[in-house]
Amino acid sequence: MTSPALTDSLPYLDPALPVAARVADLLDRMTVEEKVGQMLQLDARDDLDDHVLRRHVGSILHTSPERLIRANELTAQTRLRIPLLVGEDCIHGHSFWPGATIYPTQLGMAASWDAELVERVARATAVEVAATGIHWTFSPVLCIARDLRWGRVDETFGEDPFLIGELASAMVRGYQGDGLDDPTAILATAKHFAGYSETQGGRDASEADISRRKLRSWFLPPFERVAREGCRTFMLGYQTTDGVPITVNDWLLSDVLRGEWGYTGTLITDWDNVGRMVWEQQVQPDYTHAAAAAVKAGNDMVMTTPGFFEGALDAVERGMLSSSDFDAAVARILTLKFELGLFEDPRLPQEGLDAVVGSPAHAELNLEIARRSLVLLENDGTLPLSPSARLSVAVVGPLADDAQTQLGDWAGGSGQAGWLDGQPRDMITTVLDGLAGVEGWTVTHARGADILTLEEDPRGATFPDGQPRPPVVVPAAVDEALIAEAVAAASASDVVVAVVGDRIELVGEGRSTATLELIGGQNALLDALIATGKPVVVVLLASKPLVLPASVSQAAAVIWAANPGMQGGRALAEIVTGAVEPSGRLPISFARHVGQQPTYYNQIRGQHGDRYADLTQSPAWAFGEGRSYSTVEYADLVVASSGPLSVGDTVLAEVTVTNVGSRPVRETVQVYVRDEVTSVSWTDRELKAYRQVDLEPGESRVVRVEVPVAECSIVDAAGVRRVEPGEFALLVGPSSREQALLSASFTVA
Ligand code: NOJ
Repeated sequence: MTSPALTDSLPYLDPALPVAARVADLLDRMTVEEKVGQMLQLDARDDLDDHVLRRHVGSILHTSPERLIRANELTAQTRLRIPLLVGEDCIHGHSFWPGATIYPTQLGMAASWDAELVERVARATAVEVAATGIHWTFSPVLCIARDLRWGRVDETFGEDPFLIGELASAMVRGYQGDGLDDPTAILATAKHFAGYSETQGGRDASEADISRRKLRSWFLPPFERVAREGCRTFMLGYQTTDGVPITVNDWLLSDVLRGEWGYTGTLITDWDNVGRMVWEQQVQPDYTHAAAAAVKAGNDMVMTTPGFFEGALDAVERGMLSSSDFDAAVARILTLKFELGLFEDPRLPQEGLDAVVGSPAHAELNLEIARRSLVLLENDGTLPLSPSARLSVAVVGPLADDAQTQLGDWAGGSGQAGWLDGQPRDMITTVLDGLAGVEGWTVTHARGADILTLEEDPRGATFPDGQPRPPVVVPAAVDEALIAEAVAAASASDVVVAVVGDRIELVGEGRSTATLELIGGQNALLDALIATGKPVVVVLLASKPLVLPASVSQAAAVIWAANPGMQGGRALAEIVTGAVEPSGRLPISFARHVGQQPTYYNQIRGQHGDRYADLTQSPAWAFGEGRSYSTVEYADLVVASSGPLSVGDTVLAEVTVTNVGSRPVRETVQVYVRDEVTSVSWTDRELKAYRQVDLEPGESRVVRVEVPVAECSIVDAAGVRRVEPGEFALLVGPSSREQALLSASFTVA
């Protein structure tokens, strides 16, 4: 890339010099235009020549394989030849690379409750991503999912801050590998900082009505953890809080993130956040003021606001910013580029990448996490079905054989990338494929129902910033002919597997839902199938928890498959036939009715009564729940020392778990803590630890659990996190349901 003469003469091109010296040298040579451009990340699908040659962009995203090569040819023509950072949303695999491995969604992976496995998935993703010339993934998502109507629940690790922290930390480790000089390392992004998910009525990117104390209590801890552990980049959300757009939230960005947590990494805005302050939130009069405010607030990289370039330069012209105001941001971006070694090797797509991308080893890993992502919610004993019995199985439903929908959002066909409309069909095993592959079974298929059609939004096909406006979803009418066909198939079979759920049009940014019900003809289909009297196994292939119709209480079994990725159908068939034991546990609670929102388990104590006049408040299935094909009993919870303990101590306890059934299980032993009396209102119980143990039939094991007393904290009225002395309960069991937990008390002095 660089000529020998340049390498010899310019210090910043000398790899032998320390990174800080190279950054200082290069920064000194940059014009103000080059500095402003360096802070910009623009969409590679637009005019690349303009981005690189005129606006001097520092980074691009959404790059097709061809445009990646072109972009690098262009940077070679620039004065300083500063390589590009190339970013992409590789959030459950290398989403938009044709033939890459697509894993279950983040929410699906969270159902494994297995940080080590999630780390391996992130590592394998990094290996694929790095091979294709992409340096930076916008993953993981650390938002807390609380309102199920929000369209981005599938991108989260669910509702619990502790579980989110464990899994996010693992994912960051997996992406970043052994350090940025590792050629398979990619930059991780903790997003969306912070509180974005706390929507009004589930409406995407609406004002997050959230106090600083509430942020510190639940929303910030996972971010703090990965910031302190070295996650190299953070991305903002879209929200305003208390009237302040996150892009200029000085308290969060400067006082908390960079101040209290000592974060030295890079901060990127979300999509057109700077522009949104002008045209959407209307808190800045023009791009000049918006750009100046964003720079002063400490943002390093500005995602897809092309007008930031002109705005920032105008701000310099008008004396609102000076050339040195860009230095800290540019230095951080250049540091990443030097540490990745991009000046020596821009890490273009590697020769032989086909052997890495979508490799058989990654397919095997994908199968492993797909199995672990499936959650058995109900089972009357029908499952597992014996593969040796010569069963006839009707596989019914609109999602039984919908390969691209099975992959979920941020995958080949989900719409964010224009250069592919799906991943190769032959890499994907649908539920129908999986069950049709069971030897000895006769499988029939009927679609049974449609879900939706689309109509163009009457207000036009684009938003003011030119982005596509999602079309309007029109639920499909119940189709009696399709139902009759499905009922005929069901009646002629021994067992029915009904695959229902949501589709990409109901999932994602700007696609929150008002309801949580199955839409179109799906409820009518389930009612009709269950009315046949045949055992019906409901497979809910849904991005997020949905509400199932009342008839499902008569179903033989219910399995949640949260967009289980390319191997989903195979994994499902293995669980249904008992080749693999179900072990997934809910990372998020299921509502019985949309009006129960929110249904997360760790709500603040205190209300009049504990139910609605017309409905219980208890969720359909609670955080932590999930069945096995065996039964595990919990007994003899004993705390080693009930105290008084001090803040430096650890609560040590033992519990005996016994597999009293006839099949092996992987049990997730969950440990919650209740602070009996708190100085300010607090949640009734919080997950603090968990252990996964394998138990053979009849096996009993004493499981040791540990919770540092320092973790038994609350955030007081002044917003300070501390452990308050007094009585606590250690609650241990198979889920967050109070009735399922054993309790032992301890005191803190
Ligand atoms: C907007 C989304 O909110 C964010 O999560 C994503 O990383 C960027 N767009 C880039 O695609």
